[in-house]
Amino acid sequence: MTWRATCLTLFPAMFPGPLGESLAGRALRDGAWSLEARDIRAHGIGRHRNVDDTPFGGGAGMVMRPDVVDAAIADAMPEGDARPLLYLTPRGQVLDQALVRELAEGPGVVLLCGRYEGVDQRVIEHRAMREVSLGDFVLSGGEMAALALLDTCVRLLPGVMGAAESAVEESHSAGLLEYPHYTRPAEWQGRAVPPVLLSGHHAEVARWRRAEMEAATQARRPDLWTRHQVARGGAAA
Ligand code: ADE
Repeated sequence: MTWRATCLTLFPAMFPGPLGESLAGRALRDGAWSLEARDIRAHGIGRHRNVDDTPFGGGAGMVMRPDVVDAAIADAMPEGDARPLLYLTPRGQVLDQALVRELAEGPGVVLLCGRYEGVDQRVIEHRAMREVSLGDFVLSGGEMAALALLDTCVRLLPGVMGAAESAVEESHSAGLLEYPHYTRPAEWQGRAVPPVLLSGHHAEVARWRRAEMEAATQARRPDLWTRHQVARGGAAA
């Protein structure tokens, strides 16, 4: 069964974009997933196919109309479509690997990409959309966020990744940052590779990598470190 992605957007030409290349692109051509970009403007109002209007209460920008967005959703999701409907917005739950895994294990996603100041709140509630953010910054629209979200899901689909990349996923699943990587030459610009990596002692290499993961997480992401401690049943530092 193919993992199906549908993107509702005012800029369908932005898809598949970078997802037509590399790992995701090969998986798309191989049929591991499918992607459909649907133009919201096809459901616009009147001769000019209007999709937005000025905000009630005043203020800058334009808001996407609930009737237009709802019609686009109805057209894209026939009755019984079991896929979750996600709205990409900085107001949403921040995407993490746990949510990525949940989405990748399901039948696919329908992604609503907003432009302008956003989407009328009523259609978000009416359709019980799950609001998802990429982080605490503002993109000019949801399309880039949708592409990033799809990339995170597609690489987890069965058969898409090799064993090497799967290992990377596992380490992030553990809630820690990755250890640093090194390859040839063994010395470069006066910098030597950590000797343990050349030692051939697999257990010591594993121990060193684990220590590096913990040190990096403590130093760079105290929030992840605390969560990791709690998850392992330890007291939060
Ligand atoms: N749309 C605009 N900014 C966004 C963000 N940070 N995450 C998801 N969607 C967005």
